[in-house]
Amino acid sequence: MVDYKSLGLVNSKEMFAKAVHGGYAIPAFNFNNMEQLQAIIKAAADTKSPVILQVSKGARNYANPILLRFMAQGAVEYAKSLGWEKPEIVLHLDHGDTFETCKDCVDNGFSSVMIDGSHLPYEENVALTKKVCDYAHAHGVTVEGELGVLAGVEDEVSSDHHTYTDPNEVVDFVERTGVDSLAISIGTSHGAYKFTPEQCTLDEKTGRLVPPPLAFDVLEAVEAKIPGFPIVLHGSSSVPQEYVDMINSMGGKLPNAIGIPEEELRKAAKMDVCKINIDSDSRLAMTAAVRKVFTEKPGEFDPRKYLGPARDEMEKLYKHKIVAVLGSDGKAE
Ligand code: G3H
Ligand code: 13P
Ligand code: ZN
Repeated sequence: MVDYKSLGLVNSKEMFAKAVHGGYAIPAFNFNNMEQLQAIIKAAADTKSPVILQVSKGARNYANPILLRFMAQGAVEYAKSLGWEKPEIVLHLDHGDTFETCKDCVDNGFSSVMIDGSHLPYEENVALTKKVCDYAHAHGVTVEGELGVLAGVEDEVSSDHHTYTDPNEVVDFVERTGVDSLAISIGTSHGAYKFTPEQCTLDEKTGRLVPPPLAFDVLEAVEAKIPGFPIVLHGSSSVPQEYVDMINSMGGKLPNAIGIPEEELRKAAKMDVCKINIDSDSRLAMTAAVRKVFTEKPGEFDPRKYLGPARDEMEKLYKHKIVAVLGSDGKAE
């Protein structure tokens, strides 16, 4: 049993309480590799923002669970070396799909887990989420549950259609499961293709496609039922068009990649949304930077010469999200 506290990590309880009342959200950035982790920690330390390091099932398979645990522990020490005396860093399982996976994470240093039973019939979701909460809470680990189904397809997290969260279910779900936070569906989705061009309108001035707004009425209705309860938004990448353009102009192929406008996320962060999940934007930043090096210097073959610029670009992106979108800068000691 590896207790997350022994790694210098914190759970999300206090962090969320402060964020909900402070009108900002905590960034939850996915990582699979060293460069992403370095960029996340540098951005969080420089801006003094609490941060959630998210690990998906795919990331655990890719990077190896043991290495990931030591990387998270190393991240805490790295943050301290950057002058952040008491780093507020959560290690979170993203989209846990079984009790066993969640238990394995609780037993191996995670301070927070998500059990995603959103695709299950309601009663099964309640039972599974409660089982995970009972185990995790006995070890001081916080739990995120999900109600409602996100659209989109991405690696191991997939769903062909979406169903907005039913506000009439949230009180019962929160009370019976004991979850610490709740992910809801209000129109966000995973990946870089969140909307089809047909769902968008054309901005004549910029020539860009403008997506339909998120269902803020659903978020408001949820908040009315469980006021002050921490809400989570998945699928919250904005798919910056400058990265899409860079990638497409340098041999890539990302036609009609569209994300969630940052103003909408800013608005949600000021409400009870206290955790915003961003993965795809980091992938885009990395891909754009790597393609740029390969295009401009085709003779380059030292990985540090293309992963280094990718890391710099991700750090810039994470800082921008923290300061301009989530508003979490300066919220950690
Ligand atoms: O929500 C999904 C995250 O972007 C993780 O994606 O399963 O490809 O690691 P992944
Ligand atoms: P994006 O694909 O929009 O970055 O969403 C990531 C996510 O929700 C991770 O759980
Ligand atoms: Zn997600």
